[in-house]
Amino acid sequence: MKKKAVVVGAMGVIGRKLVAHLSELGDWEIVGLSRRAPDFESRATFISVDLLDRAEAEAKLSGLDDVTHIFYAAFQARPKWADHGVPNLAMLVNSVEPIAAASKGLQHIHLVQGNKIYGSHLGPFKTPAREEDPPHMLPNFYWDQEQWLRANQIGAGWTWSALRPQTVCGFALGNPMNITTCIAVYATISKELGLPLRFPGKPGAWEAVYQVCDSQHLANAMVWCGESEAAQNEVFNITNGDFFRWKNVWSGFAKFFDMEVGDVQTISLTEFMADKEPLWNMIVEKYGLQPIPYKDVAAWPFADYVFGTDWDVMTDTLKLRLHGFPDCLRSDEMFTRIFQEFRDMKVIP
Ligand SMILES: NC(=O)c1ccc[n+]([C@@H]2O[C@H](COP(=O)([O-])OP(=O)(O)OC[C@H]3O[C@@H](n4cnc5c(N)ncnc54)[C@H](OP(=O)(O)O)[C@@H]3O)[C@@H](O)[C@H]2O)c1
Repeated sequence: MKKKAVVVGAMGVIGRKLVAHLSELGDWEIVGLSRRAPDFESRATFISVDLLDRAEAEAKLSGLDDVTHIFYAAFQARPKWADHGVPNLAMLVNSVEPIAAASKGLQHIHLVQGNKIYGSHLGPFKTPAREEDPPHMLPNFYWDQEQWLRANQIGAGWTWSALRPQTVCGFALGNPMNITTCIAVYATISKELGLPLRFPGKPGAWEAVYQVCDSQHLANAMVWCGESEAAQNEVFNITNGDFFRWKNVWSGFAKFFDMEVGDVQTISLTEFMADKEPLWNMIVEKYGLQPIPYKDVAAWPFADYVFGTDWDVMTDTLKLRLHGFPDCLRSDEMFTRIFQEFRDMKVIP
């Protein structure tokens, strides 16, 4: 049977990898949604749409009458946590409703959530967190989105599912959350300045247990959720499957970048990387890199947040495995692979 996926948020660190993965699978027709046009080659069709504008969303999406799957990975960042709810629920509703109304054969809606539903961003929380744990004190936009899907699925012809990843690792530009580009650019700049690769975070974050999720691994699981009987109307935590401490993976990063390992020296990357644009432009020129604007290559506030997390971040991922998705990978090997991909793409020297 023909499968047609709409990837909502197709330019993001999650969405662009999913578009690539569906393209490789071959048996999917793919439509990507975002405001920007794609900056990469793809066999997907792209629709440029501002999902905060309901009239625009209806005008541009109501012609999609043969969609079988919606994979939702759009995101609007707001400075205050409590302000995420309104725009992020609106984008979900404004994308799903027009497509669901037009596509009578819609089978499944997948939602990407995150560990922040447990309050992993607020401070120490119950670890390992399990899917049935209650959310932190609301508001939480993932919670709002999930409740909307649950309510609207009743009596509908489609099912839904959600994955809750932690710190997704992959490639994207101009997005607010991407730890791998931040580490790669920070290391490149440190090396150019003749500095060792120091850990710029808090001493407690150097020691704490952490976990991440490879964007390819996440894309594999998203498609599994879309197609597996066992995943229908279920929520799953997802990570690479292992845990690590930054102090145990940092020397591998230094080896990759051919640098000395430095000590912990806590700095605000948001503050200390603010004046590095001329240096970055010089590096781009010197090593013949892609001319990616400095403001788009790394979002330093997110790196400050990740490296400031001086409490354990652990979720229980057994539910996903027990329901039939057994894949896992080693995070240290993932980081090296992704840094090499950035090198091959001429994003870093
Ligand atoms: N990145 C992580 O480490 C991470 C970890 C755990 C959970 N998550 C969750 O996963 C979800 C996706 O995150 P992400 O990091 O992949 O996001 P992202 O990289 O910021 O991508 C967001 C996508 O949404 C699109 N978008 C934003 N505003 C839009 C609008 N008004 N209309 C249409 N499209 C719009 C963006 O494209 P345009 O800008 O071109 O519109 C982009 O394609 C979020 O809920 C996030 O909280 C992310």
